[in-house]
This record gives sequence, C-alpha cells and structure tokens, in this order.
Amino acid sequence: ESAPIATIASLSHHEGQTVTLRGWLYNLRASGKLLFPIFRDGTGTIQGIVPKAAVPEEVFETLKNLTLESSVIVTGKVRADSRAPSGYELDVENVEVIQRVPDETPFPITLKEHGVDFLMEHRHLWLRTPRQSAILRVRATIMRAAAEYFDTNGFIRTDPPILTPNACEGTSELFEMDYFDNDKAYLTQSGQLYIEATALALGKVYSFGPTFRAEKSKTRRHLTEFWMIEPEVAYAGLDDIMDLAEAFITHIVTRVLESHRADLKVIGRDVTKLEPIVAPAPSLSTAAAPLLSSRSEAEGSAAGTTKEPRFPRLSYDEAHAMLEKAYAEGKLENPHKYGDDFGSPDETYISSQFDRPVMVHRYPAAIKAFYMQPDPADPTKALCVDVLAPEGYGEIIGGSQRVDSYDLLKSRIEEHNLPLAAFQWYLDLRKYGSVPHAGFGMGIERVVAWLCGLDHVRETIPFARTLNRIYP
Ligand code: 4AD
Ligand code: MG
Repeated sequence: ESAPIATIASLSHHEGQTVTLRGWLYNLRASGKLLFPIFRDGTGTIQGIVPKAAVPEEVFETLKNLTLESSVIVTGKVRADSRAPSGYELDVENVEVIQRVPDETPFPITLKEHGVDFLMEHRHLWLRTPRQSAILRVRATIMRAAAEYFDTNGFIRTDPPILTPNACEGTSELFEMDYFDNDKAYLTQSGQLYIEATALALGKVYSFGPTFRAEKSKTRRHLTEFWMIEPEVAYAGLDDIMDLAEAFITHIVTRVLESHRADLKVIGRDVTKLEPIVAPAPSLSTAAAPLLSSRSEAEGSAAGTTKEPRFPRLSYDEAHAMLEKAYAEGKLENPHKYGDDFGSPDETYISSQFDRPVMVHRYPAAIKAFYMQPDPADPTKALCVDVLAPEGYGEIIGGSQRVDSYDLLKSRIEEHNLPLAAFQWYLDLRKYGSVPHAGFGMGIERVVAWLCGLDHVRETIPFARTLNRIYP
C-alpha cells in the first residue's frame, strides 16, 4: 500500500485522502458491529470508524481485541467531521499491529483517576496522556521563546560549567561530590557567577541549562533539578534588568498564546487570565495604585526596552505595607514580619492584587545573596528584584545588580564564610575593568506551572527530581 504517511496534526491537508498514520491505540469503544478506536501519534488524537461490513474480517477482529497503547500503523480515509474534537475522523481501511500490549499486563494508566504517587511511579507512561503531552509541548515553546528572545536581542549564549568548585546561592543546598583525588565539586546552583565573567568579555550574554539544589523540603514549587535561563548585562543596573524581565516575559507569553490555544484547552487553563500580560496598556488594579506612586523616574526608561513599565513595581517596603494593611483587614492569616522574606501566602496575596506579574525590588540585604549591590539610597537594602507570577504562582525570576567593588565583594565573601580561594577568579572580575552589571535567572518549570495553571511543578518537566523521587 502506498498511502502517504501523515501526522494527526496535519490531517487538514489530507481531507478526502487515504493516509497512513503511525501511532498507538489510545482508546477503544465497541458498539455491536461498529468499532470506534481512538489513535494517537504524539501530534494529536483522532477517532476511527470501523464498520464490520466495510473492512476485511481480520482487520475488524484485530482491532476489536486490541489492547490499549499497542503500537499500530493505520491506513484510512480522512473525513471532516465538525463534531470531532480534531475536526476529522478516520474511516479505517487497514491496521498493522507493531507490538501488541499483552493481555496479562495491560497499560497501567487508565482513564480513571490515579493517585499522584502511582502516576509519578509510572511517569514514563503517564507522559503519553493528552494532558501531559500538551504540557510538554507548551514547555518546549517556553524554552524556545526564552532563548529566542535573547538570541534576537544581541545576547550571546555562553554556557557555564555544571561541575563547579564554588557555591552561588548559599551552601546549605549544595549537591556535593568527589572530584578525583583531593577535590570536592558541586553541581551548579546557577550559572550566574560564570556569566558575569562572560558578560565582561562579551557585553550581553545568557546561559540556559540545568541547575541543581538539594532542596530538603517538599513544596509545590521546588525541584532538586530544574532549568534556568539567565541573562547578564555589562553596564546595566537594576532598572535595566527590570525592563528586560518585563519584555522577556511578555515575549514568552505572546509565543505561548500564539501557538498553544488548543493545548491550553486540553490542560484546562483559563487563558483569559493570561491575556492581560500581553495587553499593551497597563491596567493596574486600583487597590494597589497608590502604592505604586513612589516609583522612581528612572524606572522604565533606562534600558530602552520598554517606555512605560507595564508590570507593577513595588519596593519591599511597599509590599510589606500592603501585607500589613491586608493583615489588619483580616485578609491574611499571619502578619508579615518586617525584615523577613515573604512566605508563600504573602506572595500569593501580593500577586493577587494585580493581573500581571509584579516586580518586588530592594529587599533587605541581610536576607539576600552575598553578590548583590547595596542600594546607595539605603545600604541595608539590595538592588535586587523578584518577579512574582499572577494567581499565586510565586517567584518566577530572581535577579540583581552585582557588587562591583573589589573590597566590598571580598568582605561579603568573608562575612558569608565562603572559601576565598574558590572565589579568587570571581574577585578578579572586580580587579580588571570592573563595571556595574546586572542580571537575573528565570526557572522554566515555575513558568510552565504558571502558564499551564498547574498546582505542582512535578508535571512541568518530563522527569521531575524531588526530595523523595529519583525514579524513573
Ligand atoms: O532566585 P534564584 O535563587 O536566583 C539565582 O539563582 C540567581 N543566581 C539568578 C541570577 O541572578 N542569574 O533562582 C532563580 C529562579 C527562581 O526565581 C525560580 O524561578 C527558579 O530559579 N528556582 C527554582 N525552580 C524550581 N525548583 C527550585 N528548587 C528552584 N529554585 C529556584
Ligand atoms: Mg530567589
């Protein structure tokens, strides 16, 4: 038979034609002398129609007894059907079974509800279900759009090492390993320190790769292995990277909405919640508007990426005031203690005041990383920013301006009890043509969770690594 090979996603080009689809049996319904198999091929699903009278006896019998997720090559005629979810149905003519799933070991993921542990234990098979496949397609677009933004805006991709001698984000969450004879190595927590070096070589750079943190707590937002994309810019300050983060996020959301409406529907995402993020004019909620009045003149113009900030920007102090007010009004269960980091209910409350990501800047230096530049207006604050996603999805971006003075950086390293020898190269960057520079890191899985509306990061990556799970 010479029917052309097609994919389910491309059937609109084959209406009325007989085609060959290569895939798996996703579901099967029988009604007397009529079979309704549903095939999937990775690009989508399509229902087949098999009347007993219309096909050879053995085709009907083969299909009738076929086990779910058996691999099949199917030939049939494509017919438009407005009631079908994909818009098409297949009048099956022939079926070739490539591997039949044995009757004794049926495919474990069925259409009924399974517990999370069972699903995670069978993640290698769970991935085949339409919702999980849709999430992975959206993830791929997020990753492509993220890299595309930097690639098309003058950034050079410079990938940092994964095995490192030094800690970037504190020493308590390091994966440590022996590195030959007498050395220790750590899996990288962030490429930042290294791309500070490449930024001083190339100007505007980014890195994109897996990062690792020995997160010892079970949360909805933490993986021990996750993907981070990090830009770093020489001669840039906090305002510049806030502008950059805004344009960057807008680009990613635009790309996802452009090509994944159908996937988001399968996932069950309410896309009206994502539309304000790409809308041109700011529509800041009035409840929060007074808190924004202290925004400085410089913000929003420094990098030239955007003229008028479209995402709300709040200082830590303003965010704290917002939480105090909410607590006084009984809208928050616990008060926020000034000086502390925000807890997840705090972040949820702050983000719920806006329909776009909110940028919280200038946290107390004491609770932030050693490399952050102090605010000259108040050196107890760091020139840093956390971007909180809407709808309580939490922090998606963390960034800052970096300490550019040799002496200050050296004393910071000492204060944090970090081994000076491992940071000698990093200090060199402040000795040879130091300049103000800044950057941020965005965790891909947090963004997938937000854009797909998932309540846990375990579904955002093909094989999640968490405190309790390293299988499959
Ligand atoms: O805020 P973080 O720790 O910032 C840094 O690592 C900086 N060195 C980045 C930089 O300035 N170049 O992490 C950045 C982002 C977070 O906002 C979050 O999205 C994600 O990385 N992230 C995690 N995602 C999943 N699981 C975890 N355990 C994560 N930890 C951080
Ligand atoms: Mg952070």
